[in-house]
Amino acid sequence: MKLMFIGSRLFEDVALYTKNKGITSVLTESNPDAPNQNLADVLHRVPRGMDGPKTVAIKEDVDGVVPLIGVDGPLLSLSSLKEDLEENYGIPVVTSPLEAASIAQSKFKTKRFLTENNFPTPPFQSIDMNLSESYFSFPMVLKQSHGQGGVGIEVVNSHHEMIEYLKKFGNALAEEFIAGVEISVEVLGWKGDYIPLVPVYKGKTSTKGTHPLFKVKKAPLEIEGLDNSKNNKMILELAREICRMMGVAGSADLDLIFDGKENLVLEINTRPSGTRYLTYASCNINPLQEMVDMAAGKWNPEKVQYNLKNYFAMEVPVGDFSTKRNSYLYRNFPDSNGWIIHGPPQHQRITIRGETRNSVLKIAQSLKLPS
Ligand SMILES: Nc1ncnc2c1ncn2[C@@H]1O[C@H](COP(=O)(O)OP(=O)(O)O)[C@@H](O)[C@H]1O
Ligand SMILES: [Mg+2]
Repeated sequence: MKLMFIGSRLFEDVALYTKNKGITSVLTESNPDAPNQNLADVLHRVPRGMDGPKTVAIKEDVDGVVPLIGVDGPLLSLSSLKEDLEENYGIPVVTSPLEAASIAQSKFKTKRFLTENNFPTPPFQSIDMNLSESYFSFPMVLKQSHGQGGVGIEVVNSHHEMIEYLKKFGNALAEEFIAGVEISVEVLGWKGDYIPLVPVYKGKTSTKGTHPLFKVKKAPLEIEGLDNSKNNKMILELAREICRMMGVAGSADLDLIFDGKENLVLEINTRPSGTRYLTYASCNINPLQEMVDMAAGKWNPEKVQYNLKNYFAMEVPVGDFSTKRNSYLYRNFPDSNGWIIHGPPQHQRITIRGETRNSVLKIAQSLKLPS
């Protein structure tokens, strides 16, 4: 079995898995300074874009392609590569087809898709300088169509701040500010099967607009005073239905806010998620490893569904944290209690798994982490 991986930055997440499975790994990377380039069996330096990976996939005669791209920018050209390699060369590419990727890539298209299909989402409208008097009350969230990690997003508290934003960006997707709990859920999709994994708690929304990337996160989601098993089931079904209708493939994630009554969908990302370690810690399914199985033609949705576990998990941003365990060799949870450190310098995170909430807290204390 020979698989090609596009992008070296996340390759450390699957390097051990491919070695253990006896898979020959071919890696393409365009940035000479990117990390993990020495971890694959074969490295091809390619120009930016998808022409290089296409040539390599054909020349190396690989059995499948796993794009490890964690940013939005290349996703549409990746979908075109998928169409080309799958239809003309019979090589599966584990990413979403064009239709799903283009809905996810634009927050305007996402809104249209959600409202047309009656999925719950915060009220919104499109605004620009000509239409700066909005019927929303403040605070209000202003967004750009394209962006991730909070880029281009501001919570504005007054008409004056709104105008300042519009002077900078020209126009905006204006959403009602929802006070509530932030949630993510990852979904695996392949050949018509869709498996939502576990709802993740990402903290509360704030008018300061702190992105969940910088917060402590937990899984499975628990909200005080709520029938959580019922609500979590509802979130999983909502995520499955949305991903089924979009036709996502590989790994995707949904961002939602629970406003006290309803789970409102903010966005869908059709790429490996920043919550993948927390998801893995909690349900014992590692989304990137599943993508490898998909490319290898060995993905078994029944087995994944059957193997879903229910551990307590917590993830803490630690900046820089010195330990010998920050290596691709330490990216597996050996058993029911343990921790993994991952992420680039200055943005490292520690993800803990435990059989009980208490065992998670004990590990956090032993590592001297805030919890
Ligand atoms: N309607 C909203 N109400 C409250 N907070 C919001 C709202 N929309 C976005 N946010 C905040 O901004 C963050 C990023 O928004 P999101 O739409 O997920 O874009 P991104 O692609 O940058 O992640 C959210 O995780 C949340 O903290
Ligand atoms: Mg988001």
